[in-house]
Amino acid sequence: MKILIIGNGGREHALAWKMASSPLVREVLVAPGNAGTAIERKVRNVPVAAHDIDGLVERARAERPDLTVIGPEAPLVAGLADRLQAAGLACLGPTREGARLEGSKAFTKDFLARHKIPTAAAATVTSQEAAFAYIDAHPGPLVVKADGLAAGKGVVVAADSAEAKAAAQSMLGGAFGAAGSTLVIEECLVGVEASYIILTDGRSYVAFPTSEDHKRRDDGDRGPNTGGMGAFSPASAITPEREAVIRQTIIEPTLKGLRDDGCPYTGFLYAGLMMTASGPKVLEFNCRFGDPETQPIMLRLASDLVPLVQAAVTGTLDRMQPAFDPRPALCVVMAAGGYPGEPATGDLITGLGEDTAECKIFHAGTQSTAQGPVTHGGRVLGVTALGADLAAARATAYARVQHVHFKGAQFRHDIGNRPPPRENKGP
Ligand code: AMP
Ligand code: GLY
Repeated sequence: MKILIIGNGGREHALAWKMASSPLVREVLVAPGNAGTAIERKVRNVPVAAHDIDGLVERARAERPDLTVIGPEAPLVAGLADRLQAAGLACLGPTREGARLEGSKAFTKDFLARHKIPTAAAATVTSQEAAFAYIDAHPGPLVVKADGLAAGKGVVVAADSAEAKAAAQSMLGGAFGAAGSTLVIEECLVGVEASYIILTDGRSYVAFPTSEDHKRRDDGDRGPNTGGMGAFSPASAITPEREAVIRQTIIEPTLKGLRDDGCPYTGFLYAGLMMTASGPKVLEFNCRFGDPETQPIMLRLASDLVPLVQAAVTGTLDRMQPAFDPRPALCVVMAAGGYPGEPATGDLITGLGEDTAECKIFHAGTQSTAQGPVTHGGRVLGVTALGADLAAARATAYARVQHVHFKGAQFRHDIGNRPPPRENKGP
């Protein structure tokens, strides 16, 4: 088989590495890929950007892959899956309609309410008057969210009404362009967060092991929000009992709701959850795999990923039972100086060393040059390790991080080492 993967992040390197290891696969193309995918066995980069929808369709028509996997949200929300399917090419990823679960927070709030799926109480507003009226009626912490895609920056957790009003005013004033012309303002939930990622063919689904990411840039969950500075699997807060509740009250009603609404969904679905005292609640959906959650989860996936993805595309996932390594895994992201603002680029990366069965470096914002790999984006590398327990995985990953150098490198020292959460007696 020939597989095409769209994207250039750590998630796409991890997916390409895992799929290239399949005996079913002759070649994996990555558009546009990075310096890590460029040297992966059986993998070839093709220089078409993930936002160039016309260019991707043209390239896919020429390459005729047996299967295309779309990594990031932007091409999904822009309808790349619809375009590839219309061209007769098999593709994993929701259509533009399905991708609204990530592309519009207002759509998702309405969907969750109609299908009685637990989430924070919220209002959708399009004017400052309506925003301020809701904020005045709900004193205390609130969360203000731009409706559309804002590269992970369109959410403000406001401690009080003044902060919530300032956020609403800035978003409605155009801070995120059209993405902020509609806002969701919602109750601030308290608890421990976790990521629950599944693969679905629209009817059946398989769940990946649970995971948890670290969104803030600095140690102790401080500093600005980022795309994710590290992740580990399994999540600290999802017991088997809670996982059953998540499946019954969130995942299954969501898939049924999509079907009932005439919008069957195929692909990865990522539920960002808060474990609250009254049970797990949806913070957000993503219509794709998580980044950096993919990196530790792919290290734990013992089965071949390719038949799983094929089964999702052909509607036969009910026959699949993937096996996972029981050992935990953890990924430490090394980011460029300046991230999450304007990252420095073009700095030589040294000390990458050799991967082992327990430790693998996935590339993200990197580019190949004659001198070697250089930095080419905010998140540069994901140093990912398996261990007998989380502490062992953490020790292996951080030992490897010590050898990797590039100018201005920043990383957190406490991935997988959150202080124990306040105990939450909820289901
Ligand atoms: P989202 O992009 O919607 O996941 O929001 C980004 C981050 O904001 C989440 O990972 C949470 O840490 C936080 N967040 C979002 N919604 C809420 C909420 N209702 N209550 C508390 N924190 C939230
Ligand atoms: N790690 C969070 C995300 O992929 O959105």
